[in-house]
Amino acid sequence: MAAPYRRLLPPVLLLLLVALPLASPSSSAGDQAALLALKGAVTGDPASVLSAWSSSDPDHCHWRGVTCHPASSAVAAIDLPAASLSGTLPAALPPRLLRLDLSGNNFSGPIPAAFLASPTLRALNLSSNRLSGPIAFPPSSNSNSNSSSSSPPCPALAHLRLAGNFLVGEIPAALAQCRSLRVLDVSRNVLEGAVPRALGRLAALRVLDVSRNSLTDRIPRELGNCRALAVLVLTNLTASPGDQPEFNAFLGGLPQEVVTMPALEVLWAPRANFDGRLPRYRNGSCRLRAVNLGQNYIGGPVPKWLVECGDLAFLDLSSNSFEGSMPPELRIGCMKYLNVSQNLLSGPLLSPVQGKCSSRLSDDVVVIQYYEALVGIALIGNPFGSVLGDISNAALHDFSNNGFDGALPSLNLHLAGNYSYGLLLNSNMFNSTLSGGFFGFCKGASGVAVNLSGNRLSGSLDMLSNCTSLQSFEAGYNMFNGSLSPGIGGLHLLRVLVLRANNLTGDVPVRFGDLAALEVLGLSQNSLTGILPSHLADASRLKVLMLDHNRLSGSIPPSFSELAQLSVFDVSFNNLSGDIPYLRHSPDCSLFVGNPLLSRCLGPNASAPPSSPSNHQKWTQRLGGHMTKSKYLVVIIAASATALVSFVVAVLLFFVCERRKRAKIENFKKKMVVTFADAPPEINYDSIIQATGNFSIQNLIGTGGFGATYKAELAPGYLVAVKRLAMGRFQGLQQFDAEIITLGRIRHKNLVTLIGYHNGESDTFLIYNYLPGGNLESFIHEMGSRQVSWAEVYTIAMDVAQALAFLHGSCTPRIIHRDIKPSNILLDGELNAYLSDFGLARLMEVTQTHATTDVAGTFGYVAPEYATTCRVSDKSDVYSFGVVLLELMSGKRSLDPSFSQFGDGFTIVSWGRILMQEDRTSEFFSLGLWDTSPKDRLTEMLKIAISCTSESLAVRLSMRQVAARLKQLRNDQ
Ligand SMILES: *[C@@H]1O[C@H](CO)[C@@H](O)[C@H](O)[C@H]1NC(C)=O
Ligand SMILES: *[C@@H]1O[C@H](CO)[C@@H](O)[C@H](O)[C@H]1NC(C)=O
Ligand SMILES: *[C@@H]1O[C@H](CO)[C@@H](O)[C@H](O)[C@H]1NC(C)=O
Repeated sequence: MAAPYRRLLPPVLLLLLVALPLASPSSSAGDQAALLALKGAVTGDPASVLSAWSSSDPDHCHWRGVTCHPASSAVAAIDLPAASLSGTLPAALPPRLLRLDLSGNNFSGPIPAAFLASPTLRALNLSSNRLSGPIAFPPSSNSNSNSSSSSPPCPALAHLRLAGNFLVGEIPAALAQCRSLRVLDVSRNVLEGAVPRALGRLAALRVLDVSRNSLTDRIPRELGNCRALAVLVLTNLTASPGDQPEFNAFLGGLPQEVVTMPALEVLWAPRANFDGRLPRYRNGSCRLRAVNLGQNYIGGPVPKWLVECGDLAFLDLSSNSFEGSMPPELRIGCMKYLNVSQNLLSGPLLSPVQGKCSSRLSDDVVVIQYYEALVGIALIGNPFGSVLGDISNAALHDFSNNGFDGALPSLNLHLAGNYSYGLLLNSNMFNSTLSGGFFGFCKGASGVAVNLSGNRLSGSLDMLSNCTSLQSFEAGYNMFNGSLSPGIGGLHLLRVLVLRANNLTGDVPVRFGDLAALEVLGLSQNSLTGILPSHLADASRLKVLMLDHNRLSGSIPPSFSELAQLSVFDVSFNNLSGDIPYLRHSPDCSLFVGNPLLSRCLGPNASAPPSSPSNHQKWTQRLGGHMTKSKYLVVIIAASATALVSFVVAVLLFFVCERRKRAKIENFKKKMVVTFADAPPEINYDSIIQATGNFSIQNLIGTGGFGATYKAELAPGYLVAVKRLAMGRFQGLQQFDAEIITLGRIRHKNLVTLIGYHNGESDTFLIYNYLPGGNLESFIHEMGSRQVSWAEVYTIAMDVAQALAFLHGSCTPRIIHRDIKPSNILLDGELNAYLSDFGLARLMEVTQTHATTDVAGTFGYVAPEYATTCRVSDKSDVYSFGVVLLELMSGKRSLDPSFSQFGDGFTIVSWGRILMQEDRTSEFFSLGLWDTSPKDRLTEMLKIAISCTSESLAVRLSMRQVAARLKQLRNDQ
């Protein structure tokens, strides 16, 4: 963030310098003192950046990073970005300072109030430091108007960048007094509360970025008064796991006034928890270029006025509940990125006649920089990724997973330049044939990837050979018929061709061997006949060749031994005969079954060369030994990550969505149980009711905030746990199914597995795997009478830490548990720990009416800031985890009766801290644990728990850090 404004400011600065009256030389001493105070506050300067800053050198205008006003020794700017400086910030600034840039250093502590009170400062950049505390603001001048300074604070401040620190508290409404503000960037902090409505008074504001905080509440409609606002970033999804995650979750919908702000060019709010609808009408011209509202809960139609936004090049409305048809005049061919996948859109996709696209650039450098950074990152997520190559010149249109029907559209690209183009139409209800018009985009594009899987398309595929820029074509699960055109062999860029599960007949054309780039060929489940052409082995890049479930005959040509990359070769269920040639990576005999005339498959090692197998071979052999064919799909993904991922994902999504649609329809039927991928067949409504004895108290194994849990033996030895959700709390929630299905996809070795659920009128329950070891609460309770070992304590701590780190950092969507406590941690027979109840608190919040915001946690475990403000962040979970860890080491409960002597509010946290301070740590641990454990590790674990329960959010560790520090304690004897 430092770069844009450094580049922008010099002209501004120059103008200002010229306009300023000459300074009196007397200010010089004060300026130098202020600089030396800055140096004095710096405690670390490994690069010796400030070494020449010294009172013995009177000419401070030549000190590194210092710029003075012309013909004066008054300091105008201090620029020390990315200088590895650490320390705190000085209390005062040089009196006529215009610009301070200390971004990208390691400054810590608070932002001195004097910074924002400076009458001259125009640009303040403190981004990417370790600053903490609230955004300190001088006492408001309107409440005590008789104070000495009658002028408003920060009269000149135009650029305020505080991103990437540990700032807490709310965004101060008093910032609205900085009337010159043009750029306000407070992203990547720990800010809570609402976006203040007072910000609507900032008439000059161009950029507002509040992403990656813990903000909640409604977006105020007053923000719509920012007539100049061009870039509004409310959330920003992380691209890499190391980044600060996004916890902003707003309430309600995006106000109409905000969506239709006249100057708005970039509106960025993916996964921001918005519901409601987009405004139907707007007045005045539209300047929008990039709109990202993906992964929200917005319904209603896609607004028709988008058609008038002539500069719109990026539109992401994916994973919402938009319905109706696409506005027919939307200039799709002018858009670099259009994603409306996973909605409820229907009707035909029309192909507007298009003239030239607008190529107007924004006239504001800052806007261009934001646009390019945001859009660039979003394109990295392009599902065709490496198939399409260079993403900077890729266009992507994703209409998948909707209910579009009728004929395939004719979408011609009108973008200037040579684009790679990805088009996803999979999982819809298109029912036409492939006409010449469909491939119109092939002519102008440098590379093309198309996914048509899961529609009702029919007719021949001959047209394919006319698209010479084709790199990937997937059209599985349709009704294409006829034979494969030999002309396809002329597509020299083709890397992926998947046509599984159609009605194709005829043979595999010999010319397919000419496809020098081909990596994946999937022709399974058709009615292909004839022999396997020996020439096919000349497609030397082949990694995946799936020809199973056809009627191929003859022998497998020995030339296939030469395919060095071939890792999946499936010819099962054909009429092949003769010997199986030696294949470099082909370990699994199940890929040859169903060919009665084929000689016996001798397994992986039989024909291997004498040289020792490569790692890859060992790996595939190990998998091949005990993997079923369906699981082999997993291997395919690993083996050809470049190519098949999108296909498999599409198929999976197709099934999930089919199931979702089905779930919706059958919701009315009372007995629907939705199960997830690995659910055994015994599970249905009746069997659950029967096995729990109609939720008989005899089978009750636990109760909690969300409902009671019952044990159910569905088949002899096969147990599940059934959580019957408390009536009323989740009743009639729109997003219930979608949310639960999302939870059902989350898998981690230390999370209980959600197997399925039932959402009926009279009953709602979730089905989990059953864990025989009870919960951690009983385990801790028993520590009073049973000695536990370091190994047991360590394993449980580590398991829970890993589960939480996963929920916070690596799973999609990220989940804050909010109710970590021993009764939510389950154990199996070997004392491995599993976290349960994750995602339910989120589910309630997402679906709750906005009036109630009660704290979801349990007294004794909730973090102090959560209890007092109801504002939640991942750090609240860390606090609760710390409490659990303290209980696990001490065998005492958070609010143990033995603490009552110390008075109200005394918890295990206070106790641990006192013993630690008084150097009496050994007294903290449960019976015998201290004597039998490695004492240094035990003490370190206590320290970790104490850091987890720190009141200061900045000091409190993150779950990743906790897991890493626990890992260092691993007993490696
Ligand atoms: C959004 O996130 C990306 C990836 O972490 C980051 O590079 C970019 O600067 C962020 N943009 C904004 C406007 O916050
Ligand atoms: C395709 O579907 C549309 C609408 O569902 C229907 O009107 C049309 O007759 C179908 N066409 C074909 C070729 O089946
Ligand atoms: C497709 O290519 C063939 C020859 O390769 C040509 O005869 C035919 O007209 C082309 N079709 C279209 C629609 O361009």
